Amino acid sequence: MQKIVLLNPKGGSGKTTIAINLVSYFAVCGLKPTLLDLDAQGSSTRWLSKRAKGQPVVHGIAAYERNSRVTRSFATRVPLDTERLVVDTAAALESQLLPDITRNATAVLVPVLPSDIDIHAAAKCISNLLLVAKIRREEQRIAVIANRVKKNTLVYKSLMKFLETLNIPVVATLRDSQNYIRVAESGQGLFEMKPNQVREDMEQWLPLIGWLAQRRPLHIPPGTPGITSGTTFDPLPTTASDTAIPVVNAVVSPIAASIPAPAAGPAANQNVPATTAGGADDPFNAGLNAGD
Ligand SMILES: Nc1ncnc2c1ncn2[C@@H]1O[C@H](COP(=O)(O)OP(=O)(O)OP(=O)(O)O)[C@@H](O)[C@H]1O
Ligand SMILES: [Mg+2]
Repeated sequence: MQKIVLLNPKGGSGKTTIAINLVSYFAVCGLKPTLLDLDAQGSSTRWLSKRAKGQPVVHGIAAYERNSRVTRSFATRVPLDTERLVVDTAAALESQLLPDITRNATAVLVPVLPSDIDIHAAAKCISNLLLVAKIRREEQRIAVIANRVKKNTLVYKSLMKFLETLNIPVVATLRDSQNYIRVAESGQGLFEMKPNQVREDMEQWLPLIGWLAQRRPLHIPPGTPGITSGTTFDPLPTTASDTAIPVVNAVVSPIAASIPAPAAGPAANQNVPATTAGGADDPFNAGLNAGD
């Protein structure tokens, strides 16, 4: 299983938007996602409630709902068959909660908006991830997503300049697009829309999806809580399939498969490896190869 945490205590940076589009992508790919909502606003849980029967299944856990009869560990237990756990966190998250929330995360994604206030908040957030949650840079678990960018603006340039100084990879640059608002309202994700309506936005997700596919899954025993205090699990041992060329006969979403491979050239950031080098278990990559 992979655990992917969306985190930035600055409100409105895009945590929920990215969390719901990620689970929708995983669901379309048949990767059995669970969405763990830690935010009392319940935005991602509301999105889940809008999903129609027949849409690819996303399991939801509204972890913010307090039930005094069970412990938090029990309340956040992840279904046994979950392959991708995506955690949507709240604004103004206290830094002492970071170790528990990020423990066993294969990826911690920090969305950042291009504004002076957001840039400063992101710097603080990343320093807390390094110093309080004690995630080491070398582990390559933290990544930034530049969100709602308008290229060719001064503030975008200062955001990218700031991100370069952090030495943390920028794994996607997402434009400001009404498509995010539209899909959220309808309980869907970009990858569930007609490709011609959302192609430009979907293409901006390719570097992120490629980076996530390269994270090593953890060996997490079935029934483990999404939020654990104390127990750290080891990555699964490397197998031949980790480095193998993606399997072509995996379940392939017609939508994901319809996205063309990105043109050769730099990814969203120099730090990001080529998108097509994803893991063997990710049908997205199988889709790209199958369509060759
Ligand atoms: N790339 C984008 N383009 C256009 N609108 C966006 C984009 N990303 C997010 N938004 C919009 O910005 C608003 C805030 O986004 P979102 O709710 O995802 O942020 P958040 O970090 O989860 O906020 P909070 O901290 O309050 O939970 C929402 O209305 C969302 O639709
Ligand atoms: Mg939110």
